[in-house]
Amino acid sequence: MARIVMQPSGVAVECVHGDTVLMALEKAGHALPNNCRAGACGECKVKVLSGQFDQGVVLDMALSQDERQQGLGLMCMAKPISDEMVIEWGTEDARPKLFPPRENALFVVVEKRQVAARVVELQLRPVGKPIRYWPGQYVTLGDERAGVVPRSYSIANAPRPDGEIVLQVTRAEGGSTSAWVHDTLEVGAAVKISGAYGTFIGDPSVDTPVLCLAAGTGLAPIQALAEAALRRGYRRPVTLIVAARTREDLYSLGLMAWWRIKHRNFDYRITLGREQVEGYLHGRIDALLPGLFPDLSRHSVFAAGSPAFVDACVATARSLGARNELTHTEGFFEQQRLRG
Ligand code: FES
Repeated sequence: MARIVMQPSGVAVECVHGDTVLMALEKAGHALPNNCRAGACGECKVKVLSGQFDQGVVLDMALSQDERQQGLGLMCMAKPISDEMVIEWGTEDARPKLFPPRENALFVVVEKRQVAARVVELQLRPVGKPIRYWPGQYVTLGDERAGVVPRSYSIANAPRPDGEIVLQVTRAEGGSTSAWVHDTLEVGAAVKISGAYGTFIGDPSVDTPVLCLAAGTGLAPIQALAEAALRRGYRRPVTLIVAARTREDLYSLGLMAWWRIKHRNFDYRITLGREQVEGYLHGRIDALLPGLFPDLSRHSVFAAGSPAFVDACVATARSLGARNELTHTEGFFEQQRLRG
């Protein structure tokens, strides 16, 4: 058994024999960015301040000789050899450190799909270095030269080895950027993306049941957070409740069904506000919550959607005992308005 100490917080986690540093951090609830988990992408690179470790077999393009000499290592493959290994990770209070945002990174639209009546999904692949982000964060997309004001859109997927990001864009009433995405932007177009921004990332070190509440394209950041948590083997129950007006507004149903079959701790419910359909809940989430979750005092609650939706969810969750420090919100429509 070795100790992994994170600096600057000084927080230590145990690493059992045979585990990688990434596994040890994740078991203790500390999310280290990662993609391939096989020493090929470089995403899990951190500086090792002291201690010995076996780096295992990794690709030179993921960790150059220079970087090795600077004391950097890939934690998805690194196994401690000394009793203690000290690494640079996170903030002074052991929370994930945000990546510096990048401006105008070039991406290509590799896929565009109409996924619901008013929502298109864009799959964007970076031309250069991928944008680094935490699940739950957002980017801006627009075309200033063509007079299309950049707007904020949450990334709907956890980081991938190829750096692809998925954005879900609702056609907003009178919205010029969303109209441009829906009507003009074509597969093959090059676009500029800035980001990532936002702090809707929760605290990965928290080990509680999780309740996610999403309306409209508020589902995007929730999807990214859930994908990342399930991928890293989060064991506590995760429940997602999606609110929509009618079945026409629903999307990502296949993904949610897949998660439910693959991960026993994941479940989801859908509530429709404007139609009653067998198998679906009916009504507003704030009206349904007391019946579904009478006690939220031990839950982490994530709510994303319009500010009115988020406010209503938070007020109800608090009345059911949800704690401030475990309640995370993203009123993304507000950001879109603020950013023009
Ligand atoms: S996660 Fe890709 S190199 Fe570690």
